[in-house]
Amino acid sequence: MTTEAKKILVGVAWPYANGEKHIGQIAGAYLPPDIFARYQRMIGNHVLMVSGSDTHGTPVTLKAEAEGTTAAAVVDKYHELFVDGCLKLGLTFDLYTHTDTQNHWDVTQRMFLRHWETGYIYKDVQQQWYDPQARRFLADRYIEGTCPYCGYGEARGDQCDNCGRIYDALELKNPRSKITGNTALEVRETEHFFLDMGKMNEPLLEWMRTGKEHWRPNVLNFTRGQLELRELRGRPITRDIDWGIDIPLPGYPDKRIYVWYDAVIGYLSAAIEWAAISDAPEAWREWWDAQVNPAARIYNFIGKDNIPFHTIIWPGMLIGYNAGERIFNLPYDVPANEYLRLGGDKFSTSRGRVIGFNSVLREFQPEAWRYVLTAIAPESADTDFTWQEFMDRVNNELVANWGNLVNRVLGFAYKRYEGRIPTPGEPDAADQALLEEIRAGFTSAGELYEAVKLKAALQEARRLSQRVNQYLNDKAPWQVIKNDPTAAATSLYVALQAIDWLKIIWAPILPFSSQALHEMLGYDRPLFGRQYTQRVEDARGSHLVLRYDHSDACGRWEASTLPPGQAMREPVALFHKLDDATLEARIAALG
Ligand code: MF3
Ligand code: ZN
Repeated sequence: MTTEAKKILVGVAWPYANGEKHIGQIAGAYLPPDIFARYQRMIGNHVLMVSGSDTHGTPVTLKAEAEGTTAAAVVDKYHELFVDGCLKLGLTFDLYTHTDTQNHWDVTQRMFLRHWETGYIYKDVQQQWYDPQARRFLADRYIEGTCPYCGYGEARGDQCDNCGRIYDALELKNPRSKITGNTALEVRETEHFFLDMGKMNEPLLEWMRTGKEHWRPNVLNFTRGQLELRELRGRPITRDIDWGIDIPLPGYPDKRIYVWYDAVIGYLSAAIEWAAISDAPEAWREWWDAQVNPAARIYNFIGKDNIPFHTIIWPGMLIGYNAGERIFNLPYDVPANEYLRLGGDKFSTSRGRVIGFNSVLREFQPEAWRYVLTAIAPESADTDFTWQEFMDRVNNELVANWGNLVNRVLGFAYKRYEGRIPTPGEPDAADQALLEEIRAGFTSAGELYEAVKLKAALQEARRLSQRVNQYLNDKAPWQVIKNDPTAAATSLYVALQAIDWLKIIWAPILPFSSQALHEMLGYDRPLFGRQYTQRVEDARGSHLVLRYDHSDACGRWEASTLPPGQAMREPVALFHKLDDATLEARIAALG
């Protein structure tokens, strides 16, 4: 690296700890940041990838009521389930924590008080739906009705799942209580704290005016469009519920901070927690502190329903916190994905139309999911998942294109050259052309990873792998070896060198098989670091965190030389082919 290492904060949407996540959410928000982070680490940048389970608010309490248990028990159960899935799929969070920690409470309450003191939070009386049968105010998901914007019949109190718009629950048509089903609801007054988004409209427009050329068009247009309406106004950020972060002012024992106010603060609080448990308590400033490092790049990887929270509300909260001073950096990019759909329709947990994240990892290789979910990623439009396509992509692309290339070349080399990388003779024009083309992949694929065009990066890796297949068909070393052993050794070496480079180019998407291939080629030091879990004790109890230790990783984004004569390890197939019968059996096992 000639240029200085950059600090890259990879902030990943915080999944609600209220159930098993589905593969649509993985494709949309969780796998892409890992691919991006792995690439950034390989080019030598300093990545801090953080997220955690979103533990508060009505999504969690509704689940607790449905399961007849406590919110805390629901949080523990689904937090651990997600951590387990991250380990199996290889999602390399530097810290994956959750929001019910003392650190997160402290950071959230400090932000609340700063907003209060700078006048970005004010108190007001609010009109709220009240269910007289349940004798409760109906916060957020406790109320459903018809979306005021798109007419969707099951819109929630704070956001419509269909069109993604956020609004005040009073705007819902035909509201009904989720607790009792009651439609005879009353509007009652209740006192709440409001975030003064109106004050942030102009500063946000100003922020959006420059340096956003790299943003995805849908995210950019949506955000500018909303801001140009100049309709931002106060948003209530407290609720009449008992599960959430306490309001840090006296006199509100029955109210809590709204889950969406605290969750986005997680990007900051998790960096602070990571620094604290890494015995470098100030290290988070390298990514967040606008005095220490204004050049740090903060990315937020999310699904499209989260766009307004990440391009308007959260930057607005940071602008309000900064209040004219340079305190925190604002997001650099928000690469939001569209939706992955299931056979033409939405994934829907409530309607049982889901393919569970943890379940599929029990039935199929993680690399199959990493490959297919990247190949069909909904980067610029909704895309559809079908099992047929899953099987076709695994068999005809992953196995046939890349897997078979590796198998036939390594298998032949291992058998015919006494388990060593053959020593080449003089390369000819075709050898040189191939190596030049694959070497250029570090630039072409690198630019695509850098721009978060991961689907295109995959296509580029596939195109390059195909080139090596073609080269081998032309050279046919398995024939040539009979008459011209030197020529055969040369083309095998050239193919192995190309594979060694492609191993790196594929590695962000296919880290496990690149590591296996790396070992078969005879290398000892690992490409990537090590994931591990630990328990952290604090004043609120103890919580499980997932971490990543990058210190032993030796994978570099560069065309290094494969040493001739290097002792290989016995090659085994990287990927499993699927046939109709096994696919059927495994789908059946998923239930
Ligand atoms: N829990 C939210 C969801 O699943 C996402 C929160 S992202 C955060 O939709 F940044 F706000 F935490
Ligand atoms: Zn809608």
